[in-house]
Amino acid sequence: MSTNFSTTTVGTATWQRVEELARLGRETHLRDLFAADPERGTKFLARANDLTLDYSKHRVDVEVMEALLTLCDSANLREATEAMFTGERFNSTEDRPVLHTALRAPRNSSVMVDGHDVVPDVHEVLDRMGSFASKIRTGEWKGATGKPVRNVINIGIGGSDLGPAMAYDALRSYADPTRTFRFVSNVDGADMHQATVDLDPAETLFIVSSKTFTTIETLTNAGSARDWIVGALGESAVAHHFVAVSTNAEKVTAFGIDTDNMFGFWDWVGGRYSMDSAIGLSLMVAIGPDAFREMLAGFHSMDQHFRVTPWPDNLPVLMAVLGIWYRNFLGSQAHAVLPYAQELSRFSAYLQQLDMESNGKSVDRDGVQLTVDSGPIVWGTPGTNGQHAYYQLIHQGTSLIPADFIGFVTPNHPLLHHHDLLMANFFAQTEALAFGKAAEQVAAEGCPAALVPHRTFAGNHPTSTILVTQLTPGTLGQLVALYEHKVFVQGVIWNVNSFDQWGVELGKVLATKIGGELLASFDDTTLAHDSSTNALMRHYRATRKSE
Ligand code: F6P
Repeated sequence: MSTNFSTTTVGTATWQRVEELARLGRETHLRDLFAADPERGTKFLARANDLTLDYSKHRVDVEVMEALLTLCDSANLREATEAMFTGERFNSTEDRPVLHTALRAPRNSSVMVDGHDVVPDVHEVLDRMGSFASKIRTGEWKGATGKPVRNVINIGIGGSDLGPAMAYDALRSYADPTRTFRFVSNVDGADMHQATVDLDPAETLFIVSSKTFTTIETLTNAGSARDWIVGALGESAVAHHFVAVSTNAEKVTAFGIDTDNMFGFWDWVGGRYSMDSAIGLSLMVAIGPDAFREMLAGFHSMDQHFRVTPWPDNLPVLMAVLGIWYRNFLGSQAHAVLPYAQELSRFSAYLQQLDMESNGKSVDRDGVQLTVDSGPIVWGTPGTNGQHAYYQLIHQGTSLIPADFIGFVTPNHPLLHHHDLLMANFFAQTEALAFGKAAEQVAAEGCPAALVPHRTFAGNHPTSTILVTQLTPGTLGQLVALYEHKVFVQGVIWNVNSFDQWGVELGKVLATKIGGELLASFDDTTLAHDSSTNALMRHYRATRKSE
């Protein structure tokens, strides 16, 4: 029998208490909060493993934090967390456990699903991945003509692409520099064409990654990759140049990939929570099995921190309730994630799926319309590039945009003077955002009166600073798990199912229908869409280039 995990927090006395504090404190400026407590910068601080979270530059005081953390109790967060970690069917609309945490459980632990311990299964796949990755890395695995693999292309989309693609960029300093790694996701032929145009098929291996093995973009790209290999090397080359990562052995076989060359995972791993499953195979080939396991250990250490640490010291919980504060009580729509590390250039894109596909919901777990806002718009790019683009709006625009600044003490490159400059910007931005520059100060510096309003910075823009020792496989794992659990906590407080994604279905169904209607043989006088879609499709059909 499945448990009902639905809890109502919105509208309870706890929620109303936070509303009341928001009403009273709305105008409190960070300048005043810092002036009132000289120790603030070292008090609003929490640490987990290699991560330090400074949340002093948020519009909160001790009372607000206490009230926000009480929301976790009224949402039964502790019970929900245990239900997730112990394999209960927490994803109620798909009737599945939510067990990405089992993917990084140590070999000697156990996690039961329906009476079966899944940890040995996880490690069996990891061991097979490790042996495959080593064969590629040593050159033992040969292509059809006997050449070793020089190029690895992951074909996948969403959770079957964003995680390994993000992590490959992040951990490039740890990757095999003698091999090329590419990630093809878009059904736009430009993606596949550009990824293969300069490569030798005889040295190229494709990893087709799809949880369901039914995703049209991935199957279309995999089909074109197959044509490219078969065209150059013949049908028998497929076995040497394709492996699959999926939960669907039947479809993998139907595609023509031997299940001996398939790496499995399970329906209790959500796509956007799967980068540490076999979906990370391309990453493992790039960084090696040992570094991949270090990353898993990093994930696991954050899992442990989240599971047992009291709320006031719990990083994911603190970040989650601060997000709730701005979204639900101070009216913010968006949340920026700004890594000061070029290697994390795809981190915000990765988090967009993690956060927005998880908590972009408008009904609660019981299907009842939400009465408060749920997930925010998540965006961002690495600093300092953003500073010369959109930071203007964060500093002086009319929107409240809380931001996470992520920085690393030690860089992965030898240009230390660059790093000091980067980090100087990192520290400067959160200071400028918090404290701004008052009109009186601008005027006192001799600014012409007419320009004073333009050159004034209101400040009071909230930021979290996440300072990490160094970007390594282990700290990347910690960071990703931090955000996974933050999203989980927010989903529990909003009482939404963070683990389904029905919102992507309608577009898929319509695209399949429209795909047939674009074929030359279709009689377009019978189109039955709205007048806009009909006209656009007719124009496309009349003017497109045929194959
Ligand atoms: O976008 C919807 C979605 O189902 C994602 O949740 C998932 O990560 C992606 O498509 C890819 O799915 P699959 O791995 O089954 O190809």
